[in-house]
Amino acid sequence: MISCPVCNKKMQKIERKYICEGNHNFDVSKFGHVNLLLSNQKNSKLPGDSKEMVLSRKNYLEKGYYEGISNGVNEIIKRELGDKKDIKVLDIGCGEGYYTNRLKTFLENLDIKNEIVGIDISKEAVISAAKSYKNIEWIVASASSLPIEDESLDFIICMFA
Ligand SMILES: C[S@@+](CC[C@H](N)C(=O)[O-])C[C@H]1O[C@@H](n2cnc3c(N)ncnc32)[C@H](O)[C@@H]1O
Repeated sequence: MISCPVCNKKMQKIERKYICEGNHNFDVSKFGHVNLLLSNQKNSKLPGDSKEMVLSRKNYLEKGYYEGISNGVNEIIKRELGDKKDIKVLDIGCGEGYYTNRLKTFLENLDIKNEIVGIDISKEAVISAAKSYKNIEWIVASASSLPIEDESLDFIICMFA
């Protein structure tokens, strides 16, 4: 479902690279994320939440205060699934991946096959997510220029972003 930020053509992950049909390629980092934010899509040197903001929110969320909200989102997706057993989900402004990861675990427990992509413009947020949670595609990109193929998704979540 990921498309090239340069030419919009479909991209495939081959080993540790995303390569598009137009031959643009992007390395997967040692943390497991990919940076698809082009320099002309940035309006500052370090866009999005800072490392301090990310750490602070991660510590807070891990205390469980927002667990009810996450459970509520997951239940809405369950209700809207219909007979789908295989879904694709995008989390826009995913931060350090708290909701993204809880949704992944929820779907696995329901035996729903899933591909989940988390996108955030903050490199620090995406690095934190990639270090903590595997089996999710973590991408640095902007919500205003999503590197996602048209009509490729079943659900989009966007939590407090
Ligand atoms: C309040 S945080 C919410 C993070 C996460 N969804 C959560 O609820 O824990 C907002 C997030 O949106 C990101 N963000 C801001 N502008 C963005 C943009 N244009 N594209 C993608 N992400 C953006 C920030 O970097 C930050 O991680």
